[in-house]
Amino acid sequence: MMIQSVVVFSFLFVAAYASVQDFCVADLSLPDTPSGFPCKDAKKLSVADFVYSGLGAAGNTTNLIKAAVTPAFTAQFPGVNGLGISIARLDLAVGGVIPFHTHPGGSELLVVIQGTICAGFISSANTVYFKTLNKGDIMLFPQGLLHFQINSGKGPALAFVSFSSPSPGLQITDFALFANNLPTELVVATTFLDAATVKKLKGVLGGSG
Ligand SMILES: *[C@@H]1O[C@H](CO)[C@@H](O)[C@H](O)[C@H]1NC(C)=O
Repeated sequence: MMIQSVVVFSFLFVAAYASVQDFCVADLSLPDTPSGFPCKDAKKLSVADFVYSGLGAAGNTTNLIKAAVTPAFTAQFPGVNGLGISIARLDLAVGGVIPFHTHPGGSELLVVIQGTICAGFISSANTVYFKTLNKGDIMLFPQGLLHFQINSGKGPALAFVSFSSPSPGLQITDFALFANNLPTELVVATTFLDAATVKKLKGVLGGSG
């Protein structure tokens, strides 16, 4: 009985003092690791580490794609570090498009706030899933799959996209293929496009070679 009580009391003592790691706000001054950034000293944190105001204003859509992605990933919002979550703002001017791209690190959930967006993704089986979305609609884009968003309405469109990762990453296929210095002959050989098209796309997207 005595021994049992000691064991129970010891357990309670350990349970009461076992610290739970509630969060790990990124210390961006230290290098990133496969499991995220090291944590800022909890004693130096305030509510400001859990609030970000960078998504309040529209991104600049005066560019080739007439669109802007404003991220609140770990780099901009260190509070999401380690929590498996992040968000970004998507502004699409009339005719704007987020070209085919992938997020290697996380799945995406899009919610349309304003306007009309035609969005879709392609599965590993090359099945296409696309739909015209209106205000209030949400759509899923599973991790790693190629997907796109097009403003298919007559006015500007606004959406927010959340991710199942604090650093989902972004690779835009057109830029990956044509905004680089891989020799044109190798791009031709690996894409089945003709050299004139490859050179034209390299010119438009800022590639060389
Ligand atoms: C938006 O970007 C364009 C092109 O880079 C630039 O000329 C323009 O000044 C920017 N507008 C604002 C409001 O920053």
